[in-house]
Amino acid sequence: MELSNRLQSLPSQFFATLVKKVATAIDEGRDIINLGQGNPDQPTPSHIVKAMQQAVENPGTHKYSPFRGTDEFRQAAADFYKREYNVNLDPETEIAVLFGTKIGLVELPLALMNEGDLLLLPDPGYPDYLSGAGLANITYETMPLHSENAFLPDYDALTANQKERAKLLYLNYPNNPTGATASIDFFEETVRIGKTSNIGIVHDFAYGAIGFDGQKPVSFMQAEGAKEVGIELYTLSKTYNMAGWRIGFAVGNAKMIEAINLLQDHLFVSIFPALQHAGAVALTGSQESVDELVALYESRRNTLIAECNRIGWNVSSPKGSFFAWLPVPESYTSEAFADYLLENADVAVAAGNGFGAYGEGYVRIGLLVDEKRIIEAISRIEKLDIFHP
Ligand SMILES: Cc1ncc(COP(=O)(O)O)c(C=O)c1O
Repeated sequence: MELSNRLQSLPSQFFATLVKKVATAIDEGRDIINLGQGNPDQPTPSHIVKAMQQAVENPGTHKYSPFRGTDEFRQAAADFYKREYNVNLDPETEIAVLFGTKIGLVELPLALMNEGDLLLLPDPGYPDYLSGAGLANITYETMPLHSENAFLPDYDALTANQKERAKLLYLNYPNNPTGATASIDFFEETVRIGKTSNIGIVHDFAYGAIGFDGQKPVSFMQAEGAKEVGIELYTLSKTYNMAGWRIGFAVGNAKMIEAINLLQDHLFVSIFPALQHAGAVALTGSQESVDELVALYESRRNTLIAECNRIGWNVSSPKGSFFAWLPVPESYTSEAFADYLLENADVAVAAGNGFGAYGEGYVRIGLLVDEKRIIEAISRIEKLDIFHP
């Protein structure tokens, strides 16, 4: 049976190759330090696990969820935004429940775009944005993120034609893969571009909880007028180490939220009610575990950056997310350098060009192994004699 043209046109998963190479090396019995992946390594906080266990025991949770999610979960999401960002949201019309944010990001072009409409994407960026464009069979163009511009897009560089055709624009801060963060001024400028050019803004806030040096990441929803032009997607995957549970939500512009909900009415019945209850407990219960998690990532970041600088790898510190974006030595491409580290140091990193053409010249390192392993990884790289203090 032939795959549909639509499926055949989907982008290939760049990082599948890396996953395979790492698996092969591990099968060979090598002690690989995997800094290439993005899977949180810590467990879900126990009060959330307990809430799930109790909810599963309750037969009331065994039925279909309401199509658009439980009142309890949507209210918890609204309360979370009020508490964390002082943003008011109507849980009926301004919140959509998602099976993780990946699904929302992939659904949005299907829900809102037609042939001829343009999707503007950051480059480098989270590769799954391309899946949404492919499934909806729409065109995308990229906005380069340069280090000289603090890895923010330069809206002045958008052409009149791009502004005319663009229906949606995706952003993501704290950023995967660069670790950059955005200011409220930048988000206010984003609202202006959204309004003047009639572009829907989609802010992927997957790493919203993870800001370093005492700087809490800003929500796009905090920008004046944000709800008029866009939405923000929030996931429980990173904040509460719930990546495998598959739960998140979108907030903001009621028309965009309705579009997601309408598409989901046709695709799914919403998430297992017990999981929505546990999600509500995560959002409204004690946030101590979140503070501890951010402190853990910050400590790992400090160790990584200090170790890199010690061996003469001059890198700058990420301000948020759990990634560091490190320049590769001049004589290598991103892929050649990643391959070299895997083959010669048993250290896996993600080649920057997997995140887009403007990722060339970088590798991404995840802060998802303990500090001893981070130190070990960098000392293995030191022995390759590429860098000199
Ligand atoms: C930038 C970004 N957005 C979205 C996601 C998707 O997260 P989830 O589908 O678990 O909510 C990820 C996951 O790695 C990510 O890095």
